[in-house]
Amino acid sequence: LFISFILRDGTALSLDLEGLNEQAATHITGQKLNEIFDHLATYSDTVRPGITRLVFTERDMEARVYIKGLMKEAGLVVREDIMGNTFGRWEGSDPKAGTVMSGSHSDTVKLGGPYDGALGVIGAISAVKFLRNQGFQPVKSIECIMFTTEEASRFSIPCLGSQGMTGFLKPEVLDTFKDDNGSSFREAANAAGFTAASAQEFADKALMKDTDSIAAFLELHIEQGPHLEAEKKDIGIVEAIMAPALLRVEFTGRGGHGGGMPMSHRNDPALAASELAILNEKVTLATGADESVSTFGLWDIKPNFYNAVPRSVRVDIDIRDSDKERRDSIITQTLDGAKAIAAQRKCGHTGEIKFEYPIATSDKKVLKAIQRATDALGVSSKRMVSRAYHDAAFMAQLAPTAMIFVPSKDGLSHHPNEHTAPDELARGVQTLALTIAQLAGS
Ligand code: GLV
Ligand code: MN
Ligand code: MN
Ligand code: MN
Repeated sequence: LFISFILRDGTALSLDLEGLNEQAATHITGQKLNEIFDHLATYSDTVRPGITRLVFTERDMEARVYIKGLMKEAGLVVREDIMGNTFGRWEGSDPKAGTVMSGSHSDTVKLGGPYDGALGVIGAISAVKFLRNQGFQPVKSIECIMFTTEEASRFSIPCLGSQGMTGFLKPEVLDTFKDDNGSSFREAANAAGFTAASAQEFADKALMKDTDSIAAFLELHIEQGPHLEAEKKDIGIVEAIMAPALLRVEFTGRGGHGGGMPMSHRNDPALAASELAILNEKVTLATGADESVSTFGLWDIKPNFYNAVPRSVRVDIDIRDSDKERRDSIITQTLDGAKAIAAQRKCGHTGEIKFEYPIATSDKKVLKAIQRATDALGVSSKRMVSRAYHDAAFMAQLAPTAMIFVPSKDGLSHHPNEHTAPDELARGVQTLALTIAQLAGS
């Protein structure tokens, strides 16, 4: 497996991926990577094992300084956009050949682990640093990216940075979705020094120009599920990303005293929501597909006391699938079901789609490059679907994209015990390095 390089002094070199593999195995080690992850984990509002780094908090700002420092140390030219998306660029020898981009996010959920997001950011910088040290001179430019707030952990809505870059952002969410203290993204960003006078200005200025020049986007990530570990595979080659839709349904009723109000007089919204949850489970299971999933994860019941008949219930419902038609059919059946249940139980009701993200399909050429990298490294791989969403889901709508997964111990993530073994981390970064080399090398 030969790929061509042009060295910094201008001489062309055809390098055996196999040879680069040996170098990668020596220079990209789990120990070196974990030194970085351990340091990054100190920027946290909770003590380890639980890591809490919400976007635009002091800890996030400190982590950003650290990551920009790593980018500079790797010889990259750093820039930030208006939403705080951060780029480290290595100019290729042909300015017209386009850019290979790779990255992920550095914010976390509350009490998350050290690798969700961070692996894709640190991994890209480490891979690029390795290639530089090898004397590799890319033909295409290479950019490492840290996206602003992939996690919904502060503003209840995910991937704001990548949505902004790719034009999927509905600007009003930057004002209407609030954190626990009532601040909006716009307010928090302004306080952190990313200033815009309006949500629209954020959206307008974050939007990437010249997206045709993105030759490829790669995101390295932990699997966050049990499949690679169970099948003893080193690397997941992600062919598609399931995308969520968020439904919000609210039922209302008269309420009343838990003893005084006879059953026959009630129009209990909690019972309506419960019936909807069962209906939704049935229609989700009815697809027969393992990738069809629905979660009634948030119940906001008022007044939420044991001897008061509820007066209102709001449920937020996360619905995902790898097939858009199937997902949309579950959405329709759930919203129709809510209407019918409300009518039958004489409850008031509203139902709406809060967001609905696109399903992402990976690019065949990028998948092939990852496969060649794993073959050259002699590591095992498995084609799979990402059940979690990622910034890559938005990048994939504009650019040839694929993701690289490494195993998650016990399938855990969004959890303090999230763990990936040092060798597994290293194999992920080595795979990324060899993939970038192929895609940017000519
Ligand atoms: C977040 O990563 C999600 O998939 O919900
Ligand atoms: Mn996450
Ligand atoms: Mn993530
Ligand atoms: Mn995610």
